[in-house]
Order: sequence, then structure tokens, then C-alpha cells
Amino acid sequence: MKVNGTPFRTIWPTPDYAVEIIDQTRLPHEFVTLHLENMRDAEHAIRSMQVRGAPLIGVTAAYGVALSMCHHASDAALTATCDMLAKPRPTAVNLRWAVERMRALLSPLPACERAEAAWLEAARIAEQDVAINQAIGRHGLALIRARYQNKAETVNILTHCNAGWLATVDWGTALAPIYAAFEAGIPLHVWVDETRPRNQGASLTAWELAQHGVPHTVIVDNAGGHLMQHGRVDMVIVGTDRVTATGDVCNKIGTYLKALAAKDNGVPFYVAMPTSTLDWSLRDGVVEIPIEERGEEEVTHLSGLCDDGLIRRIQITPQGSKAANYGFDVTPARLVSGLITERGLVAANAEAICAQLKSL
Ligand code: MRU
Repeated sequence: MKVNGTPFRTIWPTPDYAVEIIDQTRLPHEFVTLHLENMRDAEHAIRSMQVRGAPLIGVTAAYGVALSMCHHASDAALTATCDMLAKPRPTAVNLRWAVERMRALLSPLPACERAEAAWLEAARIAEQDVAINQAIGRHGLALIRARYQNKAETVNILTHCNAGWLATVDWGTALAPIYAAFEAGIPLHVWVDETRPRNQGASLTAWELAQHGVPHTVIVDNAGGHLMQHGRVDMVIVGTDRVTATGDVCNKIGTYLKALAAKDNGVPFYVAMPTSTLDWSLRDGVVEIPIEERGEEEVTHLSGLCDDGLIRRIQITPQGSKAANYGFDVTPARLVSGLITERGLVAANAEAICAQLKSL
């Protein structure tokens, strides 16, 4: 996608066998790229959320393996690298999926062939991510177009967190249908949940929609239900970090509450899901999906641009008050209207998922 008119991806290899990323902790007020030179840089970029979003976390880990193989490609190094890069964040299944894909490819190879094979495979995962998101965009466009043909007015779509191109290599998942509909000339408007505590909606989704010229309005996380009650939301489209074989969906904290409000108001609730985010080993999301808990300071403090042009961090809670910071929640399959995958729309139940996605 474009930044000030210049095409960008979120991650790209450099000629000197390093990796460059957009540092998402500096957005929306500063556009900064970072050079990752070794596996530790990649691990830190994932843990500190310089890169975030399930698909991009996976791709960064794959490039992390490639960076490591350039330094040491022994069996012990491969094992240590994969074990380390599978750990920084527990919820997004794409992380483990990408690392295990690299491990399976590289393990049988002689050490001297691993570095080049790793770079090629990381690039393959990145290109597949882009193609998958474009396909999700096409299948989601059909839903938006149908709604537009039905009401012949601006289609209002609510989204939570950031599942745009910043959360992937390019195009995004939940935002891909929105970009496709916008490109197709369908009048639309996006309600952007700010998405406390890290504000991925207010700082990342709003930024990328603005870069692309897509009409949008940032709302507090608790406003969505009210807007649905007043008929101002035609559909909800969110991303996901892990989906069970039965269709339970894990996404950014607050998604479950949006799904409940959508159900209560008859608003379709769609989840954009690349199949790399499907965890075939799980059946009960609420019980089985590991939920990341991050530091209290993400809740007690906020950072932003001050009138003097400086970025500052402030404390919003009283000294001594404890805070809990759950990163994700699980929306049961019964609240999901459909999964928008690269293979098309799939019902959120075991039979449909098995029938339409098992062969992938
Ligand atoms: O904590 P984050 O910013 O990595 O959380 C991201 C989300 O919850 C996204 O909705 C999800 O990863 C899908 S990204 C295409």
C-alpha cells in the first residue's frame, strides 16, 4: 500500500541480507523504518510490537530464521533459533505456524544450504501472504457490494484493532475488502474502534485508511453497541489471531463484546481469516486458546503528540492502582456470521471448515 504516495510493504529483505521493517510503535506521528540484522532483532521486533498483527508476526519470524541461518546454520543453531522465535507472543498461531514451516523445510538440508533456502522460503511466505489477502479482499468485496445493492447508500463498516496492511505484508485481512470496495467506487465509511490499551485502531487503522483516502471515524471502544442500536452499522469486519477447528475466533480484546452487540442488533459479524490462522488442534477456543497478558503500563500510561510537537508519555491512573492487561478474547462460533478466507466465505462451524478448508 502507499505511504504519502510511495508504495510500501511492512517488511522487506535488503540487498545486504538484512530485513527492513516499518516501526509501528512510532506511528501515526512518525514514519520510521528499522534494520533487523539478526535473530535477536527479529525477536525483539515481535515482542516489543514494532511489528504486530498475526500474519506479519509469522513473516517476521520466518525472516528471523533466515537472518540466523546466515550467522550459524548448524542443527543446534536451527533448533535454538526456532525455539526462541516461536515464543515472543503466545496467542497468534501464525507465529508458530511460520516457525514450524521453516523448521520442517530446513531440518533435512545440509547446513551449507540452509541460509539460502531460508531466505527463499521467508520470501515465499511473504508473497503468499499478499496473494491470500488480495483473495480475501475479493471475497469480502462481494459482501459489501451486496449490502450496497441492498441499501443503495453509504455502507458503514465497523472494525476493531488493526487488521489492515500494517498487520500483514500488504493489503491486510479485515481491511482488504474495504480497500477493494473503495477501489470499486462503492460509497463506504469505516467506524474505527480506538482499541485500548495500545490503540491500534486510533493510531494504525485510522492512519492507513487516511493514507488511502477511505472515509472513517475513530470511536471509543464502547460506542459500537450504541451505533448498532441506531442502525448506523451495516456490518462488522475484524481480523483474527487464531481460529479453532470449530470456528471459535480469537482476536484483540473487546472483539467478543462487539460480536455480542452485533448479534443483539442483527448486524452481520464477519471475520477475515487467512487459513494460516486456523488451529486444527483446538476445538474450544475459550478454554484452549492461550491469551497474552502484557504489562500494566500499557493500561496505566498513554503516549501521544503534544502541542509542542513532541511525543510524550503520561500516566492516566492514580499512583499505586493496579492494572490488568489481557490482549485478546474469544468470540464463540455461534456469534460469527462467516469467515472470509482466501477460499471464499466459510460458515463458522466444524463441518463447513473441514469441508472447505481441510485440503489446504
Ligand atoms: O496485539 P496485536 O496488535 O498484534 O493484535 C492484532 C490483532 O488482534 C489483529 O486483529 C489480528 O492479529 C489480525 S491481523 C490481520
